[in-house]
Amino acid sequence: MAMLNVTHDFLEIADGEVVTITPASVDIEDAEGNKVERAPFHVDTDASAAEKGAYEFYMLKEIDEQPAVMRTLEQKYFDEAGNILIDQDLRDAINAADRLYIVAAGTSYHAGLVGKELFEKIAGVPTEVHVASEFAYNMPLLSAKPFFIFLTQSGETADSREVLVNVNKLGYPSLTITNVPNSTLSREASYTLLLHAGPEIAVASTKAYTGQIAVEAILAKAMGQDKDLEVAKNFDLTGELTKVANGMQALVDEKGQVEKLAADVLGTTRNAFYIGRGIDYDVALEAALKLKEVSYVQTEGFASGELKHGTIALIEKGTPVIAIITDPKTAAHTRSNVQEVVARGANVISIAAEGLATDKDQIVLPEVHPLLTPLVSVVSGQLLAYYTSKQRGYDVDKPRNLAKSVTVE
Ligand code: G6P
Repeated sequence: MAMLNVTHDFLEIADGEVVTITPASVDIEDAEGNKVERAPFHVDTDASAAEKGAYEFYMLKEIDEQPAVMRTLEQKYFDEAGNILIDQDLRDAINAADRLYIVAAGTSYHAGLVGKELFEKIAGVPTEVHVASEFAYNMPLLSAKPFFIFLTQSGETADSREVLVNVNKLGYPSLTITNVPNSTLSREASYTLLLHAGPEIAVASTKAYTGQIAVEAILAKAMGQDKDLEVAKNFDLTGELTKVANGMQALVDEKGQVEKLAADVLGTTRNAFYIGRGIDYDVALEAALKLKEVSYVQTEGFASGELKHGTIALIEKGTPVIAIITDPKTAAHTRSNVQEVVARGANVISIAAEGLATDKDQIVLPEVHPLLTPLVSVVSGQLLAYYTSKQRGYDVDKPRNLAKSVTVE
């Protein structure tokens, strides 16, 4: 990305190689001194896609681009007849596994948590999700036929790569889902699926998270269909992704309302909580990460029911608690958890799916498929984080102490 204004042609260097560059030549040798012949690869990415345009910050541009990313993924992964365009090789390899291991870091890890729901419920395969830095040096007992999925926006995260290097040594099949073609994790995994989200520049990841979830859903459907599972065959994913794109659009069109909520509830606070159950808990973790990354508000995501087992001790007058409510099975329980924190003086923002909403909910989410609600609920969390950071006068795109690609362990 950093070099696209200079060149679109790149030469890969493998670990242990030595390169001699002169004005007229580039020579690569391996560790033993043998000459290595390697052709450059071309990167098509249009450098102008990385421009900010009229936006003050990339983060808001990238939040706004999410409906378009959903539409692009529909075009890239489905043909006119609705067939899924994922190589049969990959589908066969992944369906031969008895368990999926999703390995990732940061926001991508949170997209993996949603992926577990999708792979288990649509493709019927047990799925574990692991933080890469933990997995690398403390590998759990693996199943007989594991398949590894690496989720990584950049494709360069050292923690994730360390796991992939070990997985390759063990000879297990792997897939990298990434936004960057030719990235290290893409080159080194057995298979790659691309996010087609366009360059993501803001350090806090937004459109890559929703892109990852959409790609996981498409892959889960392909796998389930191949296994002849009714739930996968009946899942009208193109229709549902269109609904998601429209829903995201409605949310970003009403961002002024979220801007006001951020000022009213999160304006000067030092801490905050996100709560939810099931898939809403997965989003609570991601929305909390967004808020802490860009606004430096100490924010934790909690399973709503777990709050009363300790953390509720931290709730005092004015503590912001943001509740995500999209699942009819657990809505009443989360609402009673909301009552518990309100009774202790919390300042609550509730984000509820249309069908479950009451006139007390500050944000009402457009109705989408129950397994795809993270794609819309997270948008509210992203916008709350963005406006809180901006209102505090921070550089939203470059939060202190953070880097976009973390290439050290
Ligand atoms: C860094 C970034 C995060 C990102 C994480 C994983 O910490 O600041 O925003 O989620 O790396 O990055 P990846 O490129 O592997 O998704």
